[in-house]
Amino acid sequence: MKNRITVLLILITLFALPLSAAGNGPIGIITAMSNELSLLLENADIEETRTIGGVDYNIGTLEGQDVVLVKAGIGKIMAAAGAATLINEFDVSSIIFTGIAGGVGDETEVMDIVVSTDLAVHDYGNINNDGFAWDAVAGTDENGRIPADPELTELAYDSAVKVVGEDSAFKGTIATGDQFVASESYVKVLQDRFNALACEMEGAAVALVAYSYDVPFVVIRCMSDKADGLAHDTYANFGDTAADNSATIVMTMLESM
Ligand code: ADE
Repeated sequence: MKNRITVLLILITLFALPLSAAGNGPIGIITAMSNELSLLLENADIEETRTIGGVDYNIGTLEGQDVVLVKAGIGKIMAAAGAATLINEFDVSSIIFTGIAGGVGDETEVMDIVVSTDLAVHDYGNINNDGFAWDAVAGTDENGRIPADPELTELAYDSAVKVVGEDSAFKGTIATGDQFVASESYVKVLQDRFNALACEMEGAAVALVAYSYDVPFVVIRCMSDKADGLAHDTYANFGDTAADNSATIVMTMLESM
């Protein structure tokens, strides 16, 4: 009887294995730009750097956690490639995206933090003679959303509250597209169509790859601008500080893991 139960348990384990692809490896931390990674690199002990597809993957420890730190590049394509490489080459157990974004919610001010509950690809769709029509197909549900891992979202939000306080920390939808948004009318579209709190250029790409591989992920963004007509100037003034702010939240999060 005991032997039969052992065989049964082995079989159940074998069949259950492919259901979860999240690795046993380090935590993958991904950014788009150098200023989003620099504070993390300064604070990490890097043991080795591997260059894959022209991108440096920095392997080491940060706040007591095994990590791979990567600046994947700007936009959805490089972000997706970076996420896939973290999963396939480094067997990461989870992925955290950190960086800056344009604040889209009426309440989200410059330097506020938005942690993803879910993400949407705002520039996926059809163009015909009437213009652009958004299509939800790029998401994972009928609303075009890709859900972030709820536990990582809570942990990231709690860490954000610790660093910037409750009034400056938000949880919600982040909208991703391959455009820098500096337009009040498009901000209105992002509010109305997605109820988004922030817009940026990589989050949903990382999200969709991680979700497809069943790897838990979260996106943390500090607002460098309001995605309005002044966005380019605001971004130039606040971008670096906002990038450090988001990185600080990641370190606080790692400390508590
Ligand atoms: N990243 C920072 N600000 C942004 C904006 N306004 N649009 C897209 N990505 C951004």
